[in-house]
Amino acid sequence: MSQRLGPLSSSHTEEDHSEQTLRPRNLSDYFGQERIKESLKISIAAAKKREEALDHVLFHGPPGLGKTTLAMILASEMGVSIRITSGPAIERTGDLASLLTSLQPGDLLFIDEIHRLPLSVEEVLYPAMEDFAVDLILGKGPKARDVRLKLNSFTLIGATTRYALISQPLRDRFGSAYRLDFYDESALSKIINRSANVLNCRIDDAGVIEIAKRSRGTARVANRLLRRVRDYAEVKSDGNITAEIAIASLAQLEIDNLGLDQMDRELIKVMAERFNGGPVGLDTLSAAISEESDTIMDVYEPYLLKLGFIHRTPRGRTLTRYAYEHMGIEPNNNELQQHLI
Ligand SMILES: Nc1ncnc2c1ncn2[C@@H]1O[C@H](COP(=O)(O)OP(=O)(O)OP(=O)(O)O)[C@@H](O)[C@H]1O
Ligand SMILES: [Mg+2]
Repeated sequence: MSQRLGPLSSSHTEEDHSEQTLRPRNLSDYFGQERIKESLKISIAAAKKREEALDHVLFHGPPGLGKTTLAMILASEMGVSIRITSGPAIERTGDLASLLTSLQPGDLLFIDEIHRLPLSVEEVLYPAMEDFAVDLILGKGPKARDVRLKLNSFTLIGATTRYALISQPLRDRFGSAYRLDFYDESALSKIINRSANVLNCRIDDAGVIEIAKRSRGTARVANRLLRRVRDYAEVKSDGNITAEIAIASLAQLEIDNLGLDQMDRELIKVMAERFNGGPVGLDTLSAAISEESDTIMDVYEPYLLKLGFIHRTPRGRTLTRYAYEHMGIEPNNNELQQHLI
């Protein structure tokens, strides 16, 4: 695992603490993702009217777009408690069974990285989601018997960065599944303004826009860049964030005008210079830049795909001419140029 700390990775404690403070608590402070919000508002109103638990919800999409935040907001909007756990944390079926039996009527159970639930545990979820029941086997050997335990009605909220890894039976049991999209500049600007308010820092509109432009369409990155720029403004200036300060501070962090950091640029460069623009397989790329393939796929690739800088083909990843143009690299033969999209 790489030790470099770009804008996409930072120490856990800093991240965790600031995510707690900056996390919006209700839908009106959650900007962007309008279609999802509209749909959730209807589900919330309907569930409240019927005095029932919300239907099970799955959120998927790249890291830092607000999946965990939405789960917490759902709990507060419904006025219920939320239990938070994650796929890899539930190792045995018994762990999940005791978690499920402890839920009060209407409670939310949030399972992050739900694609990493062990299959045996996942199977306990099926009857729990469908019939609010768990099937237990009591005793051992010939005396063992099946017992069905009734659960309180609850809502399962799943989150994942890898929708494709969720099994069909599990997918089918969610009442709704939402894909979170990258944020546009206007939503990011609102997020940055709100965070600046919470952090008590002064920033002008032009400063907000410069940070928004470099936030890779990602709320978490926007907040992280804001904190870095705030430090810079306090040390190098009077603490006010202007466009000038934002630009200087982000340049110092080696974040370019599209929000790409050193790692993104290295990835593009390696693809261009060592692999002639591809196709190159994920594992080969991972070895070439010493970064785990999961990290490339979850963290770096989604935004490069969104920019249209790389394409995924059955034979591997390829670079597009936009990536060459952005990096100012000349494709190195005519044949390649013809293949560029
Ligand atoms: N729509 C939004 N409006 C305001 N702030 C947001 C929004 N979405 C996310 N955030 C902020 O971004 C941070 C990251 O969001 P969150 O933890 O919900 O992402 P995630 O999708 O769960 O990421 P991961 O896949 O890494 O778990 C939160 O702390 C929150 O402050
Ligand atoms: Mg999360």
